[in-house]
Amino acid sequence: MSTLDALIYEKQDSIAYVTLNRPKVLNAYNIQMRDELYQILSAIKDDLDVMCVIFKGQGEKAFCAGADLTEFLTAPSPTIARRVRFERDVWGLFLSVPQPIIVALHGYVLGDGLEIALCCDIRIASENAKFGMPELGLGIIPAAGGTQTLARTVGKAKAFEMLYTGRHINAEEACRTGLVNRVVPRDRLLATADSIARRIVSYDQKAVRMVKEAVVRGLDIPLTAGLELERRLAKV
Ligand code: COA
Repeated sequence: MSTLDALIYEKQDSIAYVTLNRPKVLNAYNIQMRDELYQILSAIKDDLDVMCVIFKGQGEKAFCAGADLTEFLTAPSPTIARRVRFERDVWGLFLSVPQPIIVALHGYVLGDGLEIALCCDIRIASENAKFGMPELGLGIIPAAGGTQTLARTVGKAKAFEMLYTGRHINAEEACRTGLVNRVVPRDRLLATADSIARRIVSYDQKAVRMVKEAVVRGLDIPLTAGLELERRLAKV
């Protein structure tokens, strides 16, 4: 187990656990967390012993309440604050991780928190989870991929509603709209994520990675090219 400042990294039975660890500020995403996330995702990508990743949040109130507003507000301008966050392409890195990623979501899942969740492959929510995109209310737009990943996950109309209104939606609505895969009681959240991860770890890992590659790359290309990609992967 390595405890960094903003994250905890653990590895057990070929499953990597990444815990957002700033519970006093509802795991708000700051520059420290960005740098540590970059470091950990790079290590995971190259670690053949990691066959599945689980993201989770420390504390009872939130998975992550979005960008750290104190950092935002102390930057000389929102543009500079935003530029600082672009210095490392954490989101590009996130989406290029070849292993399956599961996220266990509880409490507030807002802004960057929701964007982290949207970079994951399977989202499990506890019954108390609340989801929202508050960026427009702060005079900015989501820039951790949210305008793209949200619309691709819940469709254009629901994405626009969440982005334009900033309304928090509950776990049941999130499940109905496809934002999360499954809703479970809070005390079953980690066990549910774990049991899915253990199933994945039991499979042939080359095949698992090929499924991820086929789905992720396939969504960006026309169906005929996607079918060709699948044929090529099946022959490897
Ligand atoms: N950045 C920095 N600190 C944050 C934070 C954020 N995004 N969200 C919460 N915190 C801090 C609060 O300032 C508070 O700190 P304090 O105890 O030192 O006063 C602590 O976390 C607990 O939050 P609090 O607001 O007291 O909890 P709550 O249950 O009353 O409200 C929220 C929860 C999520 C509704 C509220 O904290 C909130 O609106 N946060 C900001 C959400 C946001 O706009 N994120 C940015 C997205 S781009």
